Amino acid sequence: MNYDSLAALYQLQYANYRDDIAFYSRLAERLNASRILELGAGSGRVSIPLARRGFEMTGLELSPKMLEIGRKNAASDGVKVEFVLGDARDFKLDRQFPLVIAPFNALMHLYSLSDQDKALNCIKANLEPGGVFAFDLYVPNFGLEGVLRHEGETFLESDGTRTDVFLLQRIDKTAQIVTTTYYVDTVSPENCLSRNVLELTQRYFTRFELQRWLKDFRLEFYGDFEGNRWSDSSKHVVVIAKT
Ligand SMILES: C[S@@+](CC[C@H](N)C(=O)[O-])C[C@H]1O[C@@H](n2cnc3c(N)ncnc32)[C@H](O)[C@@H]1O
Repeated sequence: MNYDSLAALYQLQYANYRDDIAFYSRLAERLNASRILELGAGSGRVSIPLARRGFEMTGLELSPKMLEIGRKNAASDGVKVEFVLGDARDFKLDRQFPLVIAPFNALMHLYSLSDQDKALNCIKANLEPGGVFAFDLYVPNFGLEGVLRHEGETFLESDGTRTDVFLLQRIDKTAQIVTTTYYVDTVSPENCLSRNVLELTQRYFTRFELQRWLKDFRLEFYGDFEGNRWSDSSKHVVVIAKT
């Protein structure tokens, strides 16, 4: 999907999300990964702190708007990330990587088995022999459908501007797809209300679908970024796939 319209909201919601950074950083250190490729690198939320730790980062991203934010963020942080505009389902870089990562649900934008297969072929072609592919996903969670809700996302700016994010979900359990409509309400310091309506479509992977998809890899599954078991109460699944 085209993330351009969501780019500003993504920055607002997740610029400070850090739960996964230490995990990817520890993994890169353990593997002594000279170079890392991030798929769906977005705003550089993960690539930038990894680059700061000394890893040579390449970030592949489909949305020009996200890429622009990523480049700006890297420049203002004074770190080098090679951002590449491209599609995870169809790319070939000029070198292979010992580690390919896809943090924070980037793979939930592979909406069909054919998308998954195409992406996996590219990942394999861009992984060094002995390389590792690691990613995390939300575990399937079909919540309340058709109920407008506020999940505590209120953002206050120093000039008094207040933004509240409301959301409404449509669920297609058979297709494993959740479509979230965001109602982003902004009240200016002059008490003027404006509403932006945005849509995000994500497709859940199931456990056995993952196992079948990655059947050529040795797999480790975890239920969080601290290495705990994947259980019924896990919100994320964290996957390390070794060639
Ligand atoms: C949930 S965001 C995650 C961004 C980043 N990985 C992070 O952890 O903050 C998903 C990103 O994947 C990108 N994306 C979606 N489909 C893609 C594709 N086929 N190829 C490359 N990037 C894609 C989106 O544009 C978006 O920036």
